[in-house]
Amino acid sequence: MILVTGGAGFIGSNFVLDWFGNFDEPVVNLDKLTYAGNLSNLTSLQGDARHIFVRGDIGNSELVDELLTYHRPRAVINFAAESHVDRSITGPAAFIETNINGTFKLLESVRRYWKELDEGDKDSFRFLHVSTDEVYGTLGPDDAPFTESTAYAPNSPYSASKAASDHLVRAYHHTYGIPVLTTNCSNNYGPYHFPEKLIPLVISNALAGKALPVYGDGRQVRDWLYVSDHCAAIRRVLDAGQPGETYNVGGWNEMANIEVVQTICDILDQHRPKAQGRYRDQVQFVTDRPGHDRRYAIDARKLERELDWKPAETFESGIAKTVEWYLTNEAWVDAIQSGAYQDWVEQNYAQRGRQ
Ligand code: NAD
Ligand code: DAU
Repeated sequence: MILVTGGAGFIGSNFVLDWFGNFDEPVVNLDKLTYAGNLSNLTSLQGDARHIFVRGDIGNSELVDELLTYHRPRAVINFAAESHVDRSITGPAAFIETNINGTFKLLESVRRYWKELDEGDKDSFRFLHVSTDEVYGTLGPDDAPFTESTAYAPNSPYSASKAASDHLVRAYHHTYGIPVLTTNCSNNYGPYHFPEKLIPLVISNALAGKALPVYGDGRQVRDWLYVSDHCAAIRRVLDAGQPGETYNVGGWNEMANIEVVQTICDILDQHRPKAQGRYRDQVQFVTDRPGHDRRYAIDARKLERELDWKPAETFESGIAKTVEWYLTNEAWVDAIQSGAYQDWVEQNYAQRGRQ
C-alpha cells in the first residue's frame, strides 16, 4: 500500500480518486483536515476498504511512526501543506509549521521506518514530495521557462516554506540515502479546487453576481495544468522516476490572469447567461498582492523525454470541464462558503481598494 498525506485537499483528493480509477492498491490517507481539507471530496470512497482515512498531522511523529510500522507502505506521497499564497502573506506561521517543520518531522519518521526495512524494500521504497514552480521565483516576459536546474529564488512566505521543504527532502537523499523524488508543478485547476483560489473564486463569484477581483493589472502570467494531468505525472514519477531527481510538471498553457477570468466569463455566458449584461461586467481590478510574482512558466521536457509524460488536456478542454463541474456541484461550494471561509473573504478583500 501507499501512504498519502494531505489527501483530503484539492490535488490530494483528486489523486486518491484517480488512483483507485487505475489500481486496487490500498491507500492510507493522513490529513489534518484544516480549512482546506474536505472529506466530502472522498464521499464516493465511503465503505471502500481500499481507502483508510486517518485524521492527523504530518508533524505528529508518534502517529506517523505508528502508521508506518503498522501499514508498512512501499511509498509515501506528501501533498500535505498550507497552499494559499495570500494566506501566507497575512499569516505565515502556519506555513512554517506545516511546510517546513511538518515535512521535517515526516522525513524523520520515514528515516526511522526506512532504515529498518530489508535491503530489497529499502531500494524500492519511495518518498515523493509534491512541490511547486513558485520555488523558482519570477520570470520576465522573455525569460526561458523554469528548468530543473533553475536556481531557487522564492518570493512569498508560501514559496519560501516550500523551497525549504524541497531542500530538506533533497538533503535526506544525499545524507541518508532515502530514495526521494520531488515534483515541481505549475498552477492546477479542476474539480474540488478550494474557492479561495483564482479559478474557482471567479466561477463562484460570477454565479453569485459578485465582483471578480483581479489583482493589479491582471497581466501576471501563470501556467495552468488540469489536475488529473498532475495526478498522472505523479503516478508516472512514482513508478519510474530516478531517486534523488526532481521533475518539473507543467501544462504548456501560459496565460495572463485577466485572460483566464475572461475565458471563464465567456463560458458562463454560454451555459448560464445572465438576465442582463455579461459576466465580464463583474470584473473589478483591485489592489495587487504584495510581492506578486509576475510570470511563471515551466519547461516540462525532462518529464516528457525521460518518463514519456505529456498533459492530456489543453486549457480549452480543461477549463470547459472545470466550469461544468462547478455548475453541477454548486452545493459543494455552498457548503464551504459558510462560516470560517467568510472571515477569510472579509480579511483578504475588504481592505483591497479598487484600482
Ligand atoms: P490544499 O490546500 O487544497 O490541500 C492541502 C491538504 O493538506 C488539506 O487537505 C489539508 O487539510 C492538509 N494539511 C494541511 N496541513 C497538514 C498537516 N500538518 N498534516 C496533515 N495534513 C495537512 O492544497 P493543494 O492545492 O491540494 O496542494 C497540495 C500540494 O501540492 C501542496 O503541497 C502544494 O504546495 C502543492 N502544489 C499545489 C499546486 C496548486 O496549484 N494547487 C501546484 C503545485 C504544487
Ligand atoms: O504555481 C503553483 C501554485 O499555484 C501553487 O504552488 C499554489 O499552492 C497555488 O495556490 C497557486 O498559487 P497562485 O498564487 O498562482 O494561485 P492563486 O489562485 O491564488 O492566484 C492565481 C493568480 O491570480 C495569481 O497571479 C494571483 C491572481 N489572483 C488571485 C486571487 C485569489 C487574482 O488576481 N485575484 C484573486 O482574487
